[in-house]
Amino acid sequence: MCGIVGFIGREQAAPILLEGLSRLEYRGYDSAGLAVYDREKGLQVVKAKGRLQVLRDLTDGGAKVPGTMGLGHTRWATHGAPNDENAHPQVSQSGRIAVVHNGIIENYGELKSFLEAKGVVFTSETDTEVVAQLLEFYYAGDLLDAVFKVLHRIEGAYALGIVCADEPDKLVAVRKDSPLILGYGEGFQMLASDVTAVIQYTREVCYLDDGDVAVLTPGGVQVYDSLGQPEEKERSHVDWEISAAEKGGYEHFMFKEIMEEPKALKDTISPRIRDGKVVLDDLTITREDLEGMDRFYIIACGSSYHVGMAAKYILERLLRIPVEVTLASEFRYCRPIVSEHTLALVISQSGETIDTLAAMREAKRLGARLLSIVNVVGSTIARESDDVLYTWAGPEIAVATTKAYSTQLAVIYLLAIHFAGLLGRIGPEEYRELVEQLQLLPGKAEEILKHTEEIQYYASIYFNHDSVFFIGRNIDYAVGLEGSLKLKEISYIHSEAYAAGELKHGTISLIEDGTLVVALASWNELFDKLMSNVKEVKARGADVIGIATESHKAALAALVDSALSIPDIHPMFLPSLEVIPMQLFAYYVALMRGCDIDKPRNLAKSVTVE
Ligand code: G6P
Repeated sequence: MCGIVGFIGREQAAPILLEGLSRLEYRGYDSAGLAVYDREKGLQVVKAKGRLQVLRDLTDGGAKVPGTMGLGHTRWATHGAPNDENAHPQVSQSGRIAVVHNGIIENYGELKSFLEAKGVVFTSETDTEVVAQLLEFYYAGDLLDAVFKVLHRIEGAYALGIVCADEPDKLVAVRKDSPLILGYGEGFQMLASDVTAVIQYTREVCYLDDGDVAVLTPGGVQVYDSLGQPEEKERSHVDWEISAAEKGGYEHFMFKEIMEEPKALKDTISPRIRDGKVVLDDLTITREDLEGMDRFYIIACGSSYHVGMAAKYILERLLRIPVEVTLASEFRYCRPIVSEHTLALVISQSGETIDTLAAMREAKRLGARLLSIVNVVGSTIARESDDVLYTWAGPEIAVATTKAYSTQLAVIYLLAIHFAGLLGRIGPEEYRELVEQLQLLPGKAEEILKHTEEIQYYASIYFNHDSVFFIGRNIDYAVGLEGSLKLKEISYIHSEAYAAGELKHGTISLIEDGTLVVALASWNELFDKLMSNVKEVKARGADVIGIATESHKAALAALVDSALSIPDIHPMFLPSLEVIPMQLFAYYVALMRGCDIDKPRNLAKSVTVE
């Protein structure tokens, strides 16, 4: 989704803003712009549809835009087509106030009519322009005063960066329901929609809360709460290296992040196992709390939802507690049966997905206890949860998630073992076996990654197919959902995942000569049943790629066209291994089809609008 960066200091702002925006490119965008104030030239605004490179070319890498204070933005269109006029910054009628915005101003139509009736002429179709025009309408020599007046009138979700040519010594930042951070420097200050944009310049940051308004000057920052009272904010230190958000010699972030899966799994699992026990220090849920829970709800979107689908099989099997998995965007509107006996497990890589955030707030309102699994430290979902377990995957830049998905699963395994132990659902022997097997997971993931060329070869055979079906049973079905999503996200091939037993109830009519079917057969208990489904599709002409555990590879190879295997491990942990060949398959297919792998069309890494 849209990205914001702001800088005020002594150095030329434009190159810094462009650099910051390049770090936010991964979020997904379709146009970009800058507004920089210079004493002689006033407020200069440069905007362009398309990649950031267009903006770089227009400004000679920023060199052509003088001034030491300004804002940059990458826009992912919601209101109005992606074009130069609708790109941000949006500017007030006199050209003296410029605004960048992430989110949606829901009552912009009404405000626009109000301003038009006062003679204001709009030049874009965006909801954001309303903010710029309204600021000018209220401006009477005090920008902060105008900002608070505007905040009383606008509704919706927003992170805003604001500059005013009449007060060139300050930048204003506002946050409600859309992430915004501040970066503190020596003689400069920054604001940004995520820390990757500032980390090259400073590691001292502050995560703004809803309702916060910050005034940045070169020498410091003052934050006010929604009532205009000054407040002290807690600072955080970002301790990951900038290299973690760089490609480090790989052609694509997605491939780099797949290769990082063994380490991400190890970082997430190892510190939480001590003396053969799962130790979740951060968790405050006790055995009594758990005994009081009569159901779990899993709330998530996209790939995180697919983790939830796998988690249902794992948690129900081990805990014998009913687990409902709900898409966050549906949860709020389906009158969920939630009470104080509900544990809501919220899964999100970014910790900022607006649907997930809204759904978890609703779950909280209904009495649920919130336990989130989040990758981005300090994100809103993490901060608003009763408990948070972080996935230590490091920054994930490719839009298509890989290592974050795997580590979310790893946290589910840890939770399942821990909860089963607390509730006495498993005996010491089973507990010990699960912990031992879980510790083997990173090494087994590494083994798979030693044979990427095999998957590359299969991709070269099948990359021209235009319709793919993923079939599996039980947990294999849940993993198939993710395999299918990976493929369609980055290669634009139409693909669907089905519970294999459901095929004959309709979908099998789509199978014809040359249709590609990926049969996921790692769940050994149901291997034979899955093979029956393979025979059904083969009989109708499908080309079949099969994935099974090493111990079943020979039986698989006898039936499918291309057989892939993954190492044997306790079945509960299979999803983390089985997904890797599918991530690689999607990657190589997309590569062979010439797709923009890290920035697939129309998609955003973090979806902060409903
Ligand atoms: C977007 C991303 C997906 C992601 C989903 C949920 O759609 O493109 O890759 O799975 O959001 O994101 P979250 O950050 O909440 O896990």
